[in-house]
Amino acid sequence: MGAIGIFDSGYGGLTVFREIVDKLPQYDYVYLGDNARVPYGTRSFETVYTYTKECVDKLFAMGCHLVVLACNTASAKALRTIQQRDLPHYPDLRKVLGVIRPTTEVVGRYTRTRHVGVLATLGTVKSASYPIEIHNFFPDVAVYQQACPLWVPLVENNELDPPAAGYFVERDINRLLQQSPHIDTVILGCTHYPLLLPLIKQFIPAHIQILSQGELVANSLANYLDRHPEVESLCAKERKIRFFTTDNALDFEEKAFRFYGQAIKATELKL
Ligand code: DGL
Repeated sequence: MGAIGIFDSGYGGLTVFREIVDKLPQYDYVYLGDNARVPYGTRSFETVYTYTKECVDKLFAMGCHLVVLACNTASAKALRTIQQRDLPHYPDLRKVLGVIRPTTEVVGRYTRTRHVGVLATLGTVKSASYPIEIHNFFPDVAVYQQACPLWVPLVENNELDPPAAGYFVERDINRLLQQSPHIDTVILGCTHYPLLLPLIKQFIPAHIQILSQGELVANSLANYLDRHPEVESLCAKERKIRFFTTDNALDFEEKAFRFYGQAIKATELKL
């Protein structure tokens, strides 16, 4: 048995992780943030795949059988290759899940106008994962995307105050909403963005729903574990939670509070 692994390029995955722990407190977890190499959102397909694979392998080596990529960019650019090309070669049962499917498979329940907007990193937008997956589940839904390349650096550096952050948040939201006056649902397609929610709400009209991923991913994971007893039985249940970062542990502890909502202890990990 092993912990459930949760991976992100940095701190963003903690916004998803806190919801997972709330919903499924009985399990052991290992969180790994690749802070030394964040951001992933502006990097090439190959680089995101290579970095993600290294981190997933590290989590497997630490005993995880199930890893959640709590990062849209990694889910968009690396998940499919890992699932289809790499996992079949492991000698025992290993599973990797992402955050895009849990969001896309429910979005049709939220939108009435069938016009959905996605705010995400450049990498996620370019991969077209959101439009492709949403169309698989809901062919009648039109999807509009806007890349927000500066939002992750703003969040990572705790530059959340208007007017500086507000300028970029307003600009990118306007660029999204200008694509269709009928958008009634906006997906925050990056796990860093919930930290910008107070600012985002200032620029998105109140009749538009904003979907954050934390709760959706936690519900989907609970459902997955129910449907896959062969994976669930490999998940340790002693409620132990450990945090690792590829960069300085003290920095991680200091910043993680804003994302996780509680103080944590972290350990630096060499890949
Ligand atoms: N948090 C990641 C995501 O959900 C992106 C951060 C990054 O660019 O590394 O896409």
